[in-house]
Amino acid sequence: MPKSRKPLALSVTVPAQDLSHPVLVGAGVLARLGTEMKRSLPEARRVALVSDENVMALHGDAAQASLEAAEFAVVRVVTPAGERAKQPDELVSLVGTLVGSGLGRRDALVALGGGTVSDLAGLAAALFMRGIALFNVPTTLLAQVDAAIGGKVAVDLPSGKNLLGTFHFPIAVLVDPELLVTLPDVEVRCGIAEMLKHGALFSADHFDQVAEGAASIRAHEPEITSRLVGTSLALKASCIARDPLEQEAGNSGRALLNLGHTLAHAIERASSYEVRHGEAVALGLRAAARVSERKHVASESGLEERMTAALAAAELPTDLDAWLVAARGDDVARALSNDKKRGFGSIAYIALARIGEPARLSLTPAEIMGLLRGEAAPC
Ligand SMILES: NC(=O)c1ccc[n+]([C@@H]2O[C@H](COP(=O)([O-])OP(=O)(O)OC[C@H]3O[C@@H](n4cnc5c(N)ncnc54)[C@H](O)[C@@H]3O)[C@@H](O)[C@H]2O)c1
Repeated sequence: MPKSRKPLALSVTVPAQDLSHPVLVGAGVLARLGTEMKRSLPEARRVALVSDENVMALHGDAAQASLEAAEFAVVRVVTPAGERAKQPDELVSLVGTLVGSGLGRRDALVALGGGTVSDLAGLAAALFMRGIALFNVPTTLLAQVDAAIGGKVAVDLPSGKNLLGTFHFPIAVLVDPELLVTLPDVEVRCGIAEMLKHGALFSADHFDQVAEGAASIRAHEPEITSRLVGTSLALKASCIARDPLEQEAGNSGRALLNLGHTLAHAIERASSYEVRHGEAVALGLRAAARVSERKHVASESGLEERMTAALAAAELPTDLDAWLVAARGDDVARALSNDKKRGFGSIAYIALARIGEPARLSLTPAEIMGLLRGEAAPC
């Protein structure tokens, strides 16, 4: 028997990393991509401009021109559009393209697109050579107020959404509401769902302004869109600043941003991703309001009604009950049980005390489905 010896105890000291980065919001800021990149990364030479097939065709030339005017060599990489891009094989293929393009550790990647592009390309930027600089240029409303902000990057696995991922904070984010003019209306509505989520969590005023301004956002009125996009992403940014790596379990951590997402991810999965993320979030928000009422954590009466009215104002789906019954309901229940936030059978479920004030619950998937279906006696 070897003699047990006292281990040599050393410590590796890692100074805290500053994850702060600028977010520029304004009509036409895409034109500043090259100069902002030069300012942040004076040693970079090559830039991988990653975009999906739709967005590259619409906005790739403008982004490339700005980068080339600042003397970067641009490598264009086109990914499939939509959720099917967020697959491990697409990730490996993208990293392979970066290797083949001769990018080095001091070079950078620009994610030009919606949340699927920023999730996939952001994860590639995190992994390629153990991490290169990432610039986010979100082109959907959802990505401008949400996905491009906060450093979460991931692809999906067959067993669930976003299961293969990490944190990789961008060096900068350029939010140009003019890019939304080409965005189909259904996608604009999806972004409005995430804006309502930010209001529901942190600001009743923002919630009401988004519901009232939904038609103006959909009509691409530049002033109101810029103002509401700026407020919405600032609400998310301040939550992230409090808990950048989602370590806090209290009532201010970034896990709150999962409001509506527990059920949304289950619906997306149960529909084989036919239902868009933002549409699923809309149903998830209604579900969260219903659970809050039925669990008696809501101090505001008529919470589900108010949430449903706001979603309807943006013509977002509100037919929650259609997802709770028959075979579809069973698929949702099964997908909910696979949720990655599951711990010892319970899910950290974000509810609402009222619009503008979140509440954390710990519920099993069966309890959530029971409450939503009205089967479980509220306690
Ligand atoms: N990482 C995060 O913090 C975070 C947060 C929220 C959502 N997400 C993820 O984001 C994804 C959804 O993102 P999304 O809703 O932006 O979808 P998306 O990226 O699939 O884009 C939606 C569609 O709009 C097209 N499009 C994008 N910009 C356009 C433009 N300006 N003009 C015309 N067409 C355009 C795309 O080609 C695509 O067909 C989901 O996978 C979700 O999980 C991530």
